Amino acid sequence: MSETTTTARAVTRLVPAVETSDGAGVRLRRSIGKADLDTLDPFLLLDAIGSEDGADYIAGFPDHPHRGFETVTYMIEGRMRHRDSTGAEGLLESGSVQWMTAGRGIVHSEMPEQEDGVLEGFQLWVNLPAAQKMSPPRYQDIPPSDVPEVQLAGGGRLRVVAGSSNGETGPVEGVVTAPMFLDFELRPGEAVEQPVTPGHTGFVYVFRGSAKVDDTNVPEHTLALLGDGEAVRLEGGEAGGRMLLLAAKPIGEPVARYGPFVMNTREEIMQAFKDFQEGRFVD
Ligand code: CO
Repeated sequence: MSETTTTARAVTRLVPAVETSDGAGVRLRRSIGKADLDTLDPFLLLDAIGSEDGADYIAGFPDHPHRGFETVTYMIEGRMRHRDSTGAEGLLESGSVQWMTAGRGIVHSEMPEQEDGVLEGFQLWVNLPAAQKMSPPRYQDIPPSDVPEVQLAGGGRLRVVAGSSNGETGPVEGVVTAPMFLDFELRPGEAVEQPVTPGHTGFVYVFRGSAKVDDTNVPEHTLALLGDGEAVRLEGGEAGGRMLLLAAKPIGEPVARYGPFVMNTREEIMQAFKDFQEGRFVD
């Protein structure tokens, strides 16, 4: 029997999340989009919300604009209602995902639809190349039942949000950076080898317990940045672990960023402010 050799992606850096707040005062843990990891092309931001105390999240994310990139909300547990300037409205429930291509501009809000109890989820920002920054806004609102769940052969559980794994393809489609977004839950010692497209930026974020990524131990609320290669090995840590594995094609363009606007140049940022102030974000 011949054995194919797969180049393993090793951990090149561990980046602990830091506690901060955003929106109208929602407490969260930020790993991408802060001083020590400003961007991770094409990823611009990763925030983990997780609390059982309503005071940490009740203020929510009232009306705010976006232009030039995509915002992704992945709910682990809890309920958030979103509304936007196109008139769209929806409820994000446990296990659901919303992939919003803000494109040329949208104003939206995301507010918890609960006053107490566990609210846990992620907000991810993914950049768009210059050619797509001014595209019309687009939503992919995906209910939990449309996210394939896989019981892994070597033990553990997987949800496929975007990209393909173990014969399943995630429901998010038509995204220019060809993202892979997988949610693994592995008990102690359970392990999986996951192919990751060579050349794509990849990382693992452990949000419960701990994990071994390649041969590096990764504690809770830590991002493990992956070097290049064809696959990564994930294993549940001492008490097991739950983690996101994300990868996407880097864009390689200049990033001009100010608050909710991410463009290529400072002039385009100024234009975004002007367009927003003059009401051009609302059709
Ligand atoms: Co937003």
